[in-house]
Amino acid sequence: MLLGISGSLRKEATNRKLIRAAAALYGTDYTEADLNLPLYDGDLETEHGVPAAVATLATQIAQAEAVIIATPEYNQSLSGVLKNALDWVSRTDGAPWRNKPVAIMAAAAGRAGGARATYALRLAMVPFRPRISAGPELLLAASAQQFDDTGMLTNDLALKTLTEAMDTLRHEARSQF
Ligand SMILES: Cc1cc2nc3c(=O)[nH]c(=O)nc-3n(C[C@H](O)[C@H](O)[C@H](O)COP(=O)(O)O)c2cc1C
Repeated sequence: MLLGISGSLRKEATNRKLIRAAAALYGTDYTEADLNLPLYDGDLETEHGVPAAVATLATQIAQAEAVIIATPEYNQSLSGVLKNALDWVSRTDGAPWRNKPVAIMAAAAGRAGGARATYALRLAMVPFRPRISAGPELLLAASAQQFDDTGMLTNDLALKTLTEAMDTLRHEARSQF
C-alpha cells in the first residue's frame, strides 16, 4: 500500500491533486492520510492519550510500502498542519517512519514551486530517520494552473519528473538495502 499525505487540508488542494497524480504513476493500492487532527497539546495527551486519528495515521505510515508527502509553501516553510501531524506521530510508539521510503514534493503558488518548503520538510523529517528518496524532487510552481477539471496534471515536464520520481521511489521501496 502507498500512503499519500497532503499538507493542505482544503478539498481542492493542489497538493492533494499532486499526491493522487503521483499515486497513479506509482501503481499500487493507495490510501490517503487525513491530517485534520487536533493541535498538539500536552494536556490533551496526558488526559486522553494519543487521539485515535493520530494512531490511525501512525499505523498507515507503518504499513505503507512507501509514503508520498506533498507540502504547500506557507511563508517559506512547510504547513503547520503537516508539522502538527509529524509532531503527533512522534508521540506514538513503534517509530513508524524508521527506514520508510518517502518521496517529498511541493505544490505552491510561487515561482520556486515550494523549494523552501521541501527543505524545511526534509529538516523536520530528520529525527524520524526515514529513507528520503533520491528523487528527482517535484516542485510544482503556479500549482493552481497545473491541473484540469478532472484533477489531471497537465504540465508535461512536471509529469515527466513525477514519473521518474515514482519509478525511483518504487525501486527504492522494493529493493533490499
Ligand atoms: C499562509 C500562507 C502563506 C503562503 N506563503 C507562500 C510562500 O511562501 N511561497 C509560495 O510559493 N506560496 C505561498 N502561499 C501560497 C500557497 O503556495 C498556495 O496557497 C498553494 O496553492 C497552497 O497549496 P494547496 O493548493 O495544496 O492548498 C502561501 C499561502 C498561505 C495561505
